[in-house]
Amino acid sequence: MSAANYELTAEVLTEAIPFMRRFAGKVVVVKYGGNALAGTEGEEEEALRSFAEDVVLMRSVGMLPVVVHGGGPQIGELMQRLGMTPRFVDGLRVTDAETLEVVRMVLVGKVNREVVGAINRHGPLAVGLSGEDAGFITAEARDEALGFVGDVVGVDPTIVRRLLSEGLVPVIATIGADVAGQAYNINADTVAGAIAAALWAQKLVLLTDVSGVRRDRDDPGSVASELSVAEIDELIADGTISEGMIPKVEACAHAVRAGVSSAHILDGRVAHALLVELFTEEGLGTMVVDR
Ligand SMILES: Nc1ncnc2c1ncn2[C@@H]1O[C@H](COP(=O)(O)OP(=O)(O)OP(=O)(O)O)[C@@H](O)[C@H]1O
Ligand SMILES: [Mg+2]
Repeated sequence: MSAANYELTAEVLTEAIPFMRRFAGKVVVVKYGGNALAGTEGEEEEALRSFAEDVVLMRSVGMLPVVVHGGGPQIGELMQRLGMTPRFVDGLRVTDAETLEVVRMVLVGKVNREVVGAINRHGPLAVGLSGEDAGFITAEARDEALGFVGDVVGVDPTIVRRLLSEGLVPVIATIGADVAGQAYNINADTVAGAIAAALWAQKLVLLTDVSGVRRDRDDPGSVASELSVAEIDELIADGTISEGMIPKVEACAHAVRAGVSSAHILDGRVAHALLVELFTEEGLGTMVVDR
């Protein structure tokens, strides 16, 4: 290592110490978006590998990471391979029984396993679970016309707390169940926000495929470094925040209102964005504040 590199490394490490202290023993909920996972083969693997390293490092310095993942693109891909035609009502995917079966197969059987596997290459840490396990996430139908698309009714974090107390990293697929055991597909951002609130997490971090929330949809330079809950409502009302960004900002708003200290939306395709957000003064992406 050259002298300049040596100094830089030492500087970076010492800068990280106060953050490591502050977050030791604290829960941080991280949602890994299906889109961040859905690059070309090589990129996809690289992004997942760097994400897994960050999660393992968080755990190694005493933080309690809880991982929630999405999988929209992966669901679309399998449906296409199976020759299923997606149906939409007002832009929302209709989830009939057959679609739900595919959604569950992909989220629980494929994406969840990939995230768990990537973390466990570093040691026996990650345990995958679905919201259906141990009464974790209770759901109800959002709208009959949409089929098995669910809203979160309740989160019982007992199973997650048990895993955390054993030093394990829960990796959550966002299928919920109603009291009768019927499964529902729930938006992963919504679930991440509800889990952060239920666990009184220190932080909620949503990793996606854009560098943050844009104040002008078409201008990548317009990413807001900070957004208040009031501003969020305005930006949704005027259409600036749309589609997949709506549940993200709403999840962040819900979490900070419930007492989560900070909530962030970052680009998960950027290697180690999570570490930079956690362990440096630098603010990446958009932070949502309760104002
Ligand atoms: N104001 C905005 N600023 C930035 N992105 C926006 C905005 N409004 C809408 N979007 C869209 O939101 C998308 C991110 O949400 P999306 O649901 O597609 O990804 P994800 O949640 O990371 O993945 P998944 O849903 O599979 O977990 C962006 O790619 C962008 O197209
Ligand atoms: Mg999404």
